[in-house]
Amino acid sequence: ETTPMVDPFGRSITYLRVSVTDRCDFRCVYCMAEDMTFLPKRDVLSLEELDRLCSAFIAKGVRRLRLTGGEPLVRRNIMSLVRSLGRHLDSGYLDELTLTTNGSQLSRFAGELADAGVRRINVSIDTLDPARFRQITRWGDLDKVMAGLDAAQAAGLKVKLNAVALKGVNENEIDDLIRFAHGRGMDLTLIETMPLGEIELDRTEQYLPLSTVRSRLEEHWTLKDIPYKTGGPARYVEVAETGGRLGFITPLTHNFCESCNRVRVTCTGTLFMCLGQEDATDLRAPLRASESDALLSAAIDEAIGRKPKGHDFVIDRDHRRPAVARHMSMTGG
Ligand code: GTP
Ligand code: 5AD
Ligand code: SF4
Repeated sequence: ETTPMVDPFGRSITYLRVSVTDRCDFRCVYCMAEDMTFLPKRDVLSLEELDRLCSAFIAKGVRRLRLTGGEPLVRRNIMSLVRSLGRHLDSGYLDELTLTTNGSQLSRFAGELADAGVRRINVSIDTLDPARFRQITRWGDLDKVMAGLDAAQAAGLKVKLNAVALKGVNENEIDDLIRFAHGRGMDLTLIETMPLGEIELDRTEQYLPLSTVRSRLEEHWTLKDIPYKTGGPARYVEVAETGGRLGFITPLTHNFCESCNRVRVTCTGTLFMCLGQEDATDLRAPLRASESDALLSAAIDEAIGRKPKGHDFVIDRDHRRPAVARHMSMTGG
């Protein structure tokens, strides 16, 4: 057993989110601007470097690893990284290797992911209506994502659906999303939109507090708080009528920072200690400076030593500029 890293607020850091690419084949309106400038390839860590970086965190007590993007499955040769990281599951140093994906490539990769030791994945689906799906993602094909879900379940992967709750966009669909997810034995988590990066939309217009959604749901569903926990920030209820689980991710209305257990690295090796803060540490230089992990390890310790207490997200008329300038796709949430 490795003793986990502990931050200044006594929180053990056992969960690493790794954005393996800033690129994506969709452009969700709440995540990216339509016209995005992506990182030049030369700035991006190789898969071998990403492997080394993840392994260094595992050696420092990280037990859960989640690959994100952008869209992780559009990174060329991504499966070689997933398979390689799977060795830490076999050796017992890692409890979980997972992925958050938009599902567009899942039909192709689901089987290989399961073979590599992935047990569950999170798939983002904000609507069940193909036309609306195309609007939200700007050109995404819902059928392809649905086929991806089928493939994932056929491969034995446990699937959680993520839906960002958007005022005037999918708020009338929450019931359908619950019925759909639970009907297929999947958990569903609803997410409050977070103000990261300039997008075309005004976030005050699209922001839907989940406290409101929950009250509305309770008019016709029976929601029972349950202690179920994944290591992520969702608070779960069981929906009595379906027997399924519904999670609420509420950075705005009910902040979960005090139990934060995670940090994230970007595909350029920048470590962000908090999703909702700008402060970051470069790990690429120490990674490349030597073959030993001593410098890297020291840089990680130094960064964890200044992990902030929490985010400063606010969405209201007085805060029309995003709290954080980078887009969500840099850190994968
Ligand atoms: P599970 O392991 O299934 O609980 O995954 P997860 O919910 O941690 O990961 P996922 O990638 O599905 O993220 C769902 C939403 O939670 C995304 O919108 C993330 O941005 C958000 N999220 C995850 N971690 C944090 C965090 O530390 N702070 C904030 N504010 N949001 C987070
Ligand atoms: N606020 C909240 N969630 C977001 N996601 C992307 N951008 C945002 C945002 N601004 C979600 C995606 C995906 C997860 C990784 O983060 O829908 O499910
Ligand atoms: Fe791509 Fe996910 Fe961002 Fe949508 S939310 S643009 S699928 S990274």
